[in-house]
Amino acid sequence: MPISYNEKDRTFKIDTEKTSYIIQVYDENYILNLYYGAYIPDSYVPGRAIRAANASFSPADPVMGENGFSPDAAPMEYATIGAGDFRVSALEIQNSNGDNVTDIRYCGYKIYDGKKDIPQLPSSYANSDSEAQTLELYAKDAVTGAAVTLYYSVFPKYDVIARRVSVTNGSSRKMRIGRAFSLCLDLPEMDYDLISLHGCYAKERNIERRRLGHGIQGVSSRRGSSSHVQNPFIALAQRGADEEHGDVYGFNLVYSGNFAALVECDYNCTSRVVMGIDPETFSWTLESGETFDTPEAIMVYTPSGIGEMSRIFHRFYNNNLIRGRYKTEKRPLLINSWEAAFFDFDDDKLVAFAKEAKKLGVEMLVMDDGWFGNRNDDTCSLGDWYVNEKKLKGGLGDLIRRINDIGLKFGIWYEPEMISPDSDLFRAHPDWCVHVEGRKPMLGRNQYVIDMSRKDVRDNIWEQMYKVLSENKIDYLKWDFNRNISDADSALLPPERKKEFFHRFVSGTYDLMNRLITTFPNILFENCSGGGGRYDPAMLCYSPQIWASDNTDAIDRLYIQFGTSMCYPASSMGAHVSANRRTGYETKCNVARWGTFGLELDPTKLTEDEAGIIRRQIGEYHRNYELVNRGDLYRLISPFENPRMAAWQFVSPDKSRTMLTLVTICSEYHRRLKVKLRGLAPDAYYKNEQSGEILSGALLMNAGLEINGWAGQTGDSLVMYFDKTER
Ligand code: DGJ
Repeated sequence: MPISYNEKDRTFKIDTEKTSYIIQVYDENYILNLYYGAYIPDSYVPGRAIRAANASFSPADPVMGENGFSPDAAPMEYATIGAGDFRVSALEIQNSNGDNVTDIRYCGYKIYDGKKDIPQLPSSYANSDSEAQTLELYAKDAVTGAAVTLYYSVFPKYDVIARRVSVTNGSSRKMRIGRAFSLCLDLPEMDYDLISLHGCYAKERNIERRRLGHGIQGVSSRRGSSSHVQNPFIALAQRGADEEHGDVYGFNLVYSGNFAALVECDYNCTSRVVMGIDPETFSWTLESGETFDTPEAIMVYTPSGIGEMSRIFHRFYNNNLIRGRYKTEKRPLLINSWEAAFFDFDDDKLVAFAKEAKKLGVEMLVMDDGWFGNRNDDTCSLGDWYVNEKKLKGGLGDLIRRINDIGLKFGIWYEPEMISPDSDLFRAHPDWCVHVEGRKPMLGRNQYVIDMSRKDVRDNIWEQMYKVLSENKIDYLKWDFNRNISDADSALLPPERKKEFFHRFVSGTYDLMNRLITTFPNILFENCSGGGGRYDPAMLCYSPQIWASDNTDAIDRLYIQFGTSMCYPASSMGAHVSANRRTGYETKCNVARWGTFGLELDPTKLTEDEAGIIRRQIGEYHRNYELVNRGDLYRLISPFENPRMAAWQFVSPDKSRTMLTLVTICSEYHRRLKVKLRGLAPDAYYKNEQSGEILSGALLMNAGLEINGWAGQTGDSLVMYFDKTER
């Protein structure tokens, strides 16, 4: 049983194949964390419930007395504010009296097979009840009446624990939640580096690694989206841990809105991690009997380095987060009209793109922004989701027929959460944009955000989308989100609920996405937010692929793709080849083949040579689809650590095939190049597909592969394949 209860020590043990997590119900029903790390057979770890070192400055529990126990020095499983623990808290409940002292104590548990969905929120799932087991721990605050449930769903095969919390108002009065994090974890040390993913538009998910120090540190977003600027992912890596070695804890929030992931190191040199909805921009009022559910946080531990942490996330997300038809079915390779034409297209131009693209091996044409209302630039028409028949002269149905006749599928672009001031929708409903009464809202890309927290607004957008999608043969939908949310307010929210806006907005977006994927299960969704501004696990529940960045420069993409791969699988990573010139098409294709390969260029303008490269590379993409989509990724040389070169490798799950890619960032004239491969079977033999040379897995991994005769000029790249063979 992956989850067990030990009556003697009052401990809960949550095991995966390689990890253990132990919770103890301590005296006075405090809930403590005894252990999270590599698997141990024991169900009790002595010595963790330490007493405060500096006595009166860490107040003691009044029942246990002065020499007893202080919450300030104990490893609290779900820390609360104001009741003796001065570190960053996971839960704050404001009483109807106005005070916010919160103190929860254990009152029961339940263990069951499988995993439940979270009402109204996306989350990971078990494919069958035997794949996961769930522990619900019940706790209560005797004074406020808050009833708290801590959920732990364990996926033993994947070494993953999914956590979340719900808070129910068990009193007869109103109650305000000031903060409710999804996860709280007290670790007994602070000798870790904090790894996070920061960025901006067109430069998403740069890897940043810093040493933990005393005090609070971390990342957050208050932009109304998970954002380009910080991703809802952090890892704590043992000092010196690298891709292959060392303890690593990874945390990823299944949420697309404002978040915080904080680590506090205290005077005992312990670290507390909290992750969840950003408390600065949140509060929630519960009427008597009502429940609030937090989003889910995914927690991974491995003693085998940062690379293994990533592979655990990748396997888990491919198997237990991404869903729908295209979870397993091969996705169509697409050409997108955006960089090829921007707003300047009509039906004939799209048909011309499709004809040329078909010759290259492309399987779907995506008509990006500009097909609706009067949209010829970015100043108007968001919200007017009807076809511009001046551009698509025979209408959408006719265009799709022409594209289908060429043998391509058809995809379309939407930005449902936005409204242009210059739109029929805004003229009819000026109060539907997100704004504060009496203030003129900020503009971003000439647009306002539409109030997704309102059901009437969502219903309008849904009806408009339903009409287009149900009347036309649409195979793909790109969902964009091109600005962040300022002036956060909804006309329908009463004053005491204003800080609920951001979460209600995100839940509203999920509601609309859910209607779409359930009504149109055959449409492939691709998430996008000005590139990768909402690249988070929640979006993967609706769209199996996410446009990683508007930056399609192959060298810049190395950084973006290395960073994205920290926790997101290659199967999810939208990667297209465009016409920008810093590298040749060979390298652009080799880099884009890391993700969901596609084209973002005018195929009628390609030279014969360029078209030849792309045609061959598309063939390679198809031939290696499974290897990249389902294979294990090894980051061999990171551009964040080596300014001259990047290298990565995909290994099939049965270790029978591997693809090695190298890209020169800056010329390597005089160096011998040797690369140590990873993830192969050491006692098996592998044949180099190009040269026919046969070498053992052990040699390729230990002695390394000598690469001679490759010039390696700036922007060059090389791809090699090895297949298992008899000697
Ligand atoms: C931003 C996206 O990232 C682009 O790919 C494109 O869809 C534009 N928006 C369209 O406005």
